[in-house]
Amino acid sequence: MQLTDSEQKMLSGAEGYAVKKSMEILVALGEIFGAKSLIGVGSVQVAGVSYHNLGDAGLEFLDELARDGKVKVLTTLNPAGMDLENWQQLGISPEFAEKQNLVIEAFQKMGILVSCTCTPYLIGNLPLYGEHVAWSESSAVTFANSVLGARTNREGGPSALAAAFVGKTPNYGLHLDENRLPDVHVQVNTQLTKLSDWGALGYAIGKKAENKIPYITGIKAAELDELKSFCASVVTYGAKPLFYMKGITPGAELQKEPKESVVVEQSDLRNAYDNINDEVSEIELVCVGCPHCSIKEISQIAKLLEGKKVAETTELWVATSRTAKQLADKRGYTQTIEAAGGKFACDTCMAVAPLKGRFKSLATTSAKGCFYSRQNLMKTKMGSIEECVDAAVTGKWNN
Ligand code: F3S
Repeated sequence: MQLTDSEQKMLSGAEGYAVKKSMEILVALGEIFGAKSLIGVGSVQVAGVSYHNLGDAGLEFLDELARDGKVKVLTTLNPAGMDLENWQQLGISPEFAEKQNLVIEAFQKMGILVSCTCTPYLIGNLPLYGEHVAWSESSAVTFANSVLGARTNREGGPSALAAAFVGKTPNYGLHLDENRLPDVHVQVNTQLTKLSDWGALGYAIGKKAENKIPYITGIKAAELDELKSFCASVVTYGAKPLFYMKGITPGAELQKEPKESVVVEQSDLRNAYDNINDEVSEIELVCVGCPHCSIKEISQIAKLLEGKKVAETTELWVATSRTAKQLADKRGYTQTIEAAGGKFACDTCMAVAPLKGRFKSLATTSAKGCFYSRQNLMKTKMGSIEECVDAAVTGKWNN
């Protein structure tokens, strides 16, 4: 890989340990993937924040980098293993909280914004069309590439951090025009009537696209929360972290329809629900917010909970960014949700919090949430926000 003089200097240690280590990571990655050079990035999103996934070895790695490492571009964090303010209420142990706080301190020392969200685009890390970035979390990467038209590979935690310290990333993969062409035309011949249908659609297209880039037609309109949910699902169940949706996402009209084509029918959505939903009726945890809830979703939950109480057998978590929660505080949504017995799970999510064995069953709006919760040994149900709030109030899945 060709390096400029200043990049060579960084590699030889002129800017300290963290930058040298970062350059080593970026050069190694670039060489593996055949990059010819590094390319500047406008922002970074770092995953690998939960102590649950990092362990002591990960914490040690971060501490070393934090000694002299300072990020060069806007850098935000993915969810941590707990709500940083309200962890006791969510049943997190003091031992875990202590370690998680050390992880956060290390990131803070590096100059990273402790945003702890997988929806960085909702809190001010919003790349422009065509902008190169280095993001990590799969739903956010898919959103950046597809809905915003920015350019990013799916970075691992260390390579994203390295990009933040250097302000650059190797120029390969989805940074290059030739790797962003759609491979399979997906004609959608079915109506989408509720939020979870977008998760089911992501499941169906992910399975059919099989690590190809889909060019999707047949969808007339989409809202932000629907695209957010679709991004999480389509990449979890199979496709690359980039899709084109004709009439909806930027740049779709510039693409040629690929020769290979598949169709998604009503029966494919039914099949998705059948595969995602387990046989279970008693619901112990309801979690809405995968990806993290927008303020609009929080307002919908608050409205549905007015005058109601969450069942004693069930917990309701609203997973969101702290920024969205602050807006919810101002509008009174927090008070309504908490008065009904619901809890906010800011800064964290059901996949990265240490939940294994704590709950036997989950109801959620999210296909991705079901995928990861099964790994935490939960039986899962996916449905609309209305169905999830109903499950929280009755303690049962009633559909
Ligand atoms: Fe976000 Fe966690 Fe879901 S990172 S997309 S809430 S699994």
